[in-house]
Amino acid sequence: MDIQTVLFDLDGTLTRSGEGIINCARYAAEQMHCRGPEDWSVFIGPPLVDSFRRFCGLGEAAAEEAVTWYRKRFREVGWEENAVYPGIPRLLRSLRAAGIHAVIVTSKPEEFAVRIAERFGLSPFIDGIIGPGMGEQQPDKEHLIRRAMSQFPGLYVMVGDRVFDVEGAARAGIPSIFAAYGYGRMEEAEGAMAAAESPQALLDLLLPEGPRARGLFLSMEGVDGCGKSTQQQALVAEMQRLGWEIVLTREPGGEEIAEKIRQLILDPGNTGMQDVTEAYLYAASRAQNARMRILPALERGEMVICDRYVDSSIAYQGGGRQLGMDRIRELNAWATENCMPDLTVYLRMEPHEALARRLSTSVPDRLEREQDSFFQRTFEAYEKLYDGRDGWRVVRVNAANSIEAVTQEMLMRVRQRLADLAKRDRQNEQE
Ligand code: TYD
Repeated sequence: MDIQTVLFDLDGTLTRSGEGIINCARYAAEQMHCRGPEDWSVFIGPPLVDSFRRFCGLGEAAAEEAVTWYRKRFREVGWEENAVYPGIPRLLRSLRAAGIHAVIVTSKPEEFAVRIAERFGLSPFIDGIIGPGMGEQQPDKEHLIRRAMSQFPGLYVMVGDRVFDVEGAARAGIPSIFAAYGYGRMEEAEGAMAAAESPQALLDLLLPEGPRARGLFLSMEGVDGCGKSTQQQALVAEMQRLGWEIVLTREPGGEEIAEKIRQLILDPGNTGMQDVTEAYLYAASRAQNARMRILPALERGEMVICDRYVDSSIAYQGGGRQLGMDRIRELNAWATENCMPDLTVYLRMEPHEALARRLSTSVPDRLEREQDSFFQRTFEAYEKLYDGRDGWRVVRVNAANSIEAVTQEMLMRVRQRLADLAKRDRQNEQE
């Protein structure tokens, strides 16, 4: 297919917005004291006024009023009860890499669609958003599609999960692909030129010969006791909500052979382990993990989240063990084929605070029994590293705050940084 612009429906095609839509429809029906359908998912996709008339038995004016209630709840909380389908980031990034425009064409008021695209990380990959204005009578899909076509170059294809998308496209004179993973029933695909069972299948239909965007590599760093494990769970959940397929890994370890190396390193019995031996073992574990797990996942377009990476060695072995930050950096560059994270979350905590937390939660292993001065040097090495040439990729979060506050700050700043990274890629492409 020689496509220049892909028009995407939003609900049920890019985002799994069912939860928010259903909650708001139920709320509106309650406010109107009317009953609703058995299965509320019928509200997902078609124009709301029609649905309230059809499924709640409301007249024209009452249906309009129900929509007002719906919007009230939607504006407050419903719009965030949403998630991007797994694989959509890869799809949109690959379209961008191929120079194809992506435009959202939705029956949702444009204002909401813009907010959702921003919040869920879609905006950097979208060239335009076409939806009805807030006061506007809901125009049908055909008109919205025509509006998009007047602003973006053809050849077009419309992608959507409902009969409205398929028929609207046909009336506007363009082909459509049915998003079979969305909320529509298979009969609704009638007239579409193809059906895609998943965003991945959609990508294969739109770009059978590539290119495929590379994935993203995130790492997490901080001194022992900074709360990394807890925050990692929150980070993974949020990235999944943004549609990323995640490969979670850790160092030392993360891969079969690397996990064996991990046991060797952490064994409390190995009191005679030389510092240099330790540095090589970490690098060996990482060589294995980088080649076997991280690089292949990035090739597949997935997101890797790694609990500790090269920076840990630079800080712990380079700083803590005083082997020299530059030497450890070089050793690891070789071990990893220079594969470095696109973004590093640094949970910053002073060593004395981290120590207090550690002692209150677990029995220390070999490394955790180190002297305070070791952790102090490690901390200082991290600070030096991130104040210097590696600062550009770091999201620094004050880990001494409450767990919830740290999570909030971290997620907000990571989302912001991902948007910045996308903008940077875009500028590079234009140059
Ligand atoms: P980990 O099990 O990740 O501990 P935590 O849950 O505290 O992060 O890491 C084990 C220890 O290994 C930790 O004390 C940090 C240390 N370490 C290094 O010294 N160098 C390295 O390169 C890595 C990856 C970890």
